[in-house]
Formats: sequence, C-alpha cells, structure tokens
Amino acid sequence: MPRLSVNVDHVATIRKARGASEPDPVTAALMAELAGADGITVHLREDRRHIQDRDVYLLKNTLKTRLNLEMAATKEMLSIALEIKPDMVTLVPEKRQELTTEGGLDVKTQLEPLKKFVASLKDGGISVNLFIDPSPDAVKAAHRIGPDGVEIHTGRYADVPLTERDSELKRIYDSVTLSKRVGLKTHAGHGLDYHNIGGVAAMKEIEEFAIGFGIIARSVYSGIGAAVAEMKRLIEGR
Ligand code: PXP
Repeated sequence: MPRLSVNVDHVATIRKARGASEPDPVTAALMAELAGADGITVHLREDRRHIQDRDVYLLKNTLKTRLNLEMAATKEMLSIALEIKPDMVTLVPEKRQELTTEGGLDVKTQLEPLKKFVASLKDGGISVNLFIDPSPDAVKAAHRIGPDGVEIHTGRYADVPLTERDSELKRIYDSVTLSKRVGLKTHAGHGLDYHNIGGVAAMKEIEEFAIGFGIIARSVYSGIGAAVAEMKRLIEGR
C-alpha cells in the first residue's frame, strides 16, 4: 500500500500572512495524522518564509508517524538536520524568488558535493531522498550519489494540458521503474491533487506520495461550513 506524507507548509503560509500564531502547522500535522496520514513533510527554507525552526523541533517531538524534512543542501541545514534528526531528509533545490520548488536537483553537475552531503546525513542515521526530475538520466545520476531513495517530481505532469498528460506520465513511469530496478526507495510528489492523482496512484512502484497544496486547499472547502456554523452559534448566543 503506498503511503501519504502530508506537507503542511501552506498552513504556515496562512499563519505568516497575519503574522499570528495560528493556524499552527504542528496542530494541523497532528490532525492529519489522526485522519490517517502516514507521515508529515515540511520544508524549512533558508529565508524561513513559512515553516519555522520551532515547527520542526515540535514535530519531531510530537509526531507518531514519520517526519520528512525538505531542505536545501547547505551547511546551516545540515547542522539543523543532524541536531533534530528527522526520519528522512529530502534534498531539494531552493531559489529565493520561487513560489514553490520549481525543478529537481541538479544531480549531474552537483554529483561530488551531493555525495559528501548525503553521506554526512546518512552517517547521522537519517534516511535521505533526492528530489529529481522525471528522467532516467536523473535517476542514474542520483543513484551514483548514494541516497536511500528518490522523489520523482510530478509538477510538470500536474501542469501540462490534458493532451500532454500521457507523455508526462510515461516520463514518470520510466523513471519510477528504473529507480525501483536499481534498488532506490521511490517516492513522488509536487502538484498532485484530487483530479490528477489517479494517473500516478496507478503506478504500483511508487511507495510514497508527498502532497501539500491540494490537500490544504481542499481542507478550506471541507472545513468552512463547520467553522461558519460555530461562529453563528456564538454570535447568536446559542
Ligand atoms: N515534494 C517536494 C520535494 C516539494 O518541494 C513539495 C512542495 O513543497 C511537494 C512535494 C508538495 O507539493 P504540493 O504542495 O504541490 O503538493
């Protein structure tokens, strides 16, 4: 059965919009766990634009499932990861201006530095995944770096017009099957939602999906009815 790791970054984005303490991504993560999530993912960015260090420490101490920390391969993040010791680190490229992670890691030109970085995390007892583009070449290069697994980037599949979906699915499938064949743990994520999950959920080789925005966006709709009804009740003194 494939696992679902719920990314709660966008709960922190809403918190940041008001500079308030709510909604708390840690509370949302615990509720996601109660609803059946197999793990929680957060991206601690260099500019701390949504998730804060405090969130990662609290999650590590409270989650009953698995904590996946997404981060860039920097010295600062390495020392934070080695101190907090999440169950898994997913290394992602990071640009300050981007709205979300735009592409996979440059595993071909960064092979040597990434090898050292991955080894340091693994020596610290942390499982490491590399976030890569859906291309067999990227899988081969990633494999040479020595991670435990890869997360195949599904963002393009999610964004292309329906007429191009099949060719994107094929790129993902070719990457996923190669990844499994060379013995890497095989995850997938980015841009997945209630409409496009079917195509990738059908790939039995994928062990875990990392999904954030689609679930947080849906939860606004599924939660607004109860939230409004509760406020009406208080206003009317019922
Ligand atoms: N996987 C990785 C590596 C990501 O960077 C992100 C976005 O933070 C996700 C999965 C989740 O993407 P989305 O929020 O579009 O579901």
